[in-house]
Amino acid sequence: AHPFRVGVAGLGTVGAAALKIIARQDNALTERAGRAIRVTAVSARDRSRDRGHDLSRYRWFDDPVALARSDEVDCVVELMGGADGPAKAVVETAIEHGKHVVTANKALLARHGLDLARRAEERGVALAFEASAAGGIPVVKTLREALAGNRITRIYGILNGTCNYILSRMESDGLDFATCLAAAQKLGYAEADPTFDIGGFDTAHKLALLTSLAFGTEIDAQSIYVEGIEKITPLDLKMADELGFRIKLLGVAERSEAGIEQRVHPTMVPKSSAIAQVMGVTNAVTIDADAVRELTLIGPGAGGDATASAVVSDIADVASGTVSPPFGRPTARLDKAERAPMQRH
Ligand code: NDP
Ligand code: HSE
Repeated sequence: AHPFRVGVAGLGTVGAAALKIIARQDNALTERAGRAIRVTAVSARDRSRDRGHDLSRYRWFDDPVALARSDEVDCVVELMGGADGPAKAVVETAIEHGKHVVTANKALLARHGLDLARRAEERGVALAFEASAAGGIPVVKTLREALAGNRITRIYGILNGTCNYILSRMESDGLDFATCLAAAQKLGYAEADPTFDIGGFDTAHKLALLTSLAFGTEIDAQSIYVEGIEKITPLDLKMADELGFRIKLLGVAERSEAGIEQRVHPTMVPKSSAIAQVMGVTNAVTIDADAVRELTLIGPGAGGDATASAVVSDIADVASGTVSPPFGRPTARLDKAERAPMQRH
């Protein structure tokens, strides 16, 4: 079989880690995919930047859109970020030119995912996005494939590594908010604009995708109630502690007769609960469903290697020839997301 040719647009925290994993796992990936996986092209803004990996073996593109339409690429891996602008142009161009797409970009998908999924279906190419929700946790595959026999009623959890890291370190090390945020940025957890993390918007983007997958509904990020952690102080954490609670930023989506309720906000959770034990960059996603009852997935929610682990698994899937509808069923058959009135919790 011909090698599967991959172009990587974006060589930051996740992109550089993905290149290293692909090189390290070369033989195992070839066996898994039934054909060699070859990175042929890369793109980033600054060609001279040291990324800890020899880039001379790949064709360099200053313009990621040119990479997306290159004849030397079968699959475009978009790891640039941003809901609009170059990332959107890269994904649209790739699909238009009949190339598969793998992306970790939840901001893009929360806003344009439905349209992009439709375009990918029409072109018969894959749009894979395991890394876009909860980093290294395989929650997209779990919802789309492993839980196909279930009617899901609720999905909730800690979906942002940066926020959980900040809240954990404020509590355990007594550090102030700004110091913890700076540390999360240094570790490569935070978004380019960390307001997305601390304002709860990144959690909302991920929740919108998980809600669509869990309930078979159209992505509806607009109707999510969003409150972030910017106003949480060490005193809040101390008071919660004295009352036997921890504060966690949760994303929650519930389905009822009235429709679907989606919300993101800091929540007091009893210290004895499983979710309260989830500390640092770790994420947790709990799914309530009729057959499996309750399932919780826990793992690293951000960071180069953990996220690249999900990216590489998508590349291997696509290379092996499995092209399933991005949201588990053709987009035309997704239900409208009826918004339920907010309950008091
Ligand atoms: P970084 O900011 O570390 O990397 C972004 C990369 O994109 C850089 O290499 C940058 O180039 C390149 N880039 C940006 N704009 C352009 C442009 N116009 N043309 C060419 N290249 C461009 O981001 P991350 O790796 O952290 O994140 C990438 C994506 O993955 C985002 O969508 C993010 O939301 C998502 N994600 C990130 C996770 C994480 O833990 N970091 C976890 C899950 C998802 P240069 O290096 O030259 O500046
Ligand atoms: N900024 C995100 C987080 C990256 O901290 O969770 C992973 O999606």
